[in-house]
Amino acid sequence: MIFTVAIDGPAAAGKGSIARAVAERFGFAHLDTGLLYRAVGVKGGDPAVAAQGLVPADIERRDLRTLEAGQAASRVAVIPQVREALLAFQRRFARAEGGAVLDGRDIGTVICPEAEVKLFVTANAEVRAHRRWLEVGGDEAEVLAQQIKRDRCDAERAVAPLVLAADAVVIDTSAMDIAAAVAEAVAVVAAKLGKQV
Ligand code: DC
Repeated sequence: MIFTVAIDGPAAAGKGSIARAVAERFGFAHLDTGLLYRAVGVKGGDPAVAAQGLVPADIERRDLRTLEAGQAASRVAVIPQVREALLAFQRRFARAEGGAVLDGRDIGTVICPEAEVKLFVTANAEVRAHRRWLEVGGDEAEVLAQQIKRDRCDAERAVAPLVLAADAVVIDTSAMDIAAAVAEAVAVVAAKLGKQV
C-alpha cells in the first residue's frame, strides 16, 4: 500500500512527536526531514555540495538537535540547489510501499502534494518557544527571539516556504497536551484509511 502522511508546521509545534506516534500506530516508516537540512547546515563547506553528498550517517550525528544546528538548517534551506538535491530522496521515501510519515515545512505542498493525509501542526509562538526552552535551557527570551527569526526565514523564503496547504487539516496544539494532539492526528489518518481508531 502506498499511503503518505505529510505533516508540516513551524518549529516546536509538536510535529515530530505526532509523526513518530502516527508512524508507530500504523506501522509506517518515518522521516524527520528537518534532520536533512540540519545535517547539511552543520556539515560546512558548500551547502549544495553537502546536500548532494549526504549519506545516512550524516543524519545520525548527535549534534543535530541544537539551536545552532536549527539556525544553520534554516539558512541552508533557502538555497534552491540544496532543496533540489534533497527532493528525490524525500519523494521516494514518501511513496515507498508500506506507508510513510514525513514531517517538515513543505511536505504537503512541494514534496508530496498527492499525500493521502496532510496535517498542519501549529501553536502560538510563546508556547512553542517555552517547549523548546524546556529542552535546551538557557535564556527563554533568547530562545523566543531565535525562534521568531527562524519562523520568519522559513515562511518568507522564495522557495518552498512554510505555507498551509489548502487541503490540510490544522491541529493547533497551543492548549493541548501531546496525547490529545496524537489522538486527533490518529483519528484523521484512521478515517482516511477507513479504520476504526
Ligand atoms: O523541523 P526542524 O526544526 O528540524 O527544521 C530545521 C530547519 O530546516 C527549519 O528551520 C527549516 C528547514 N526545513 C525545511 O526548510 N524544510 C523541511 N521540510 C524541513 C526543515
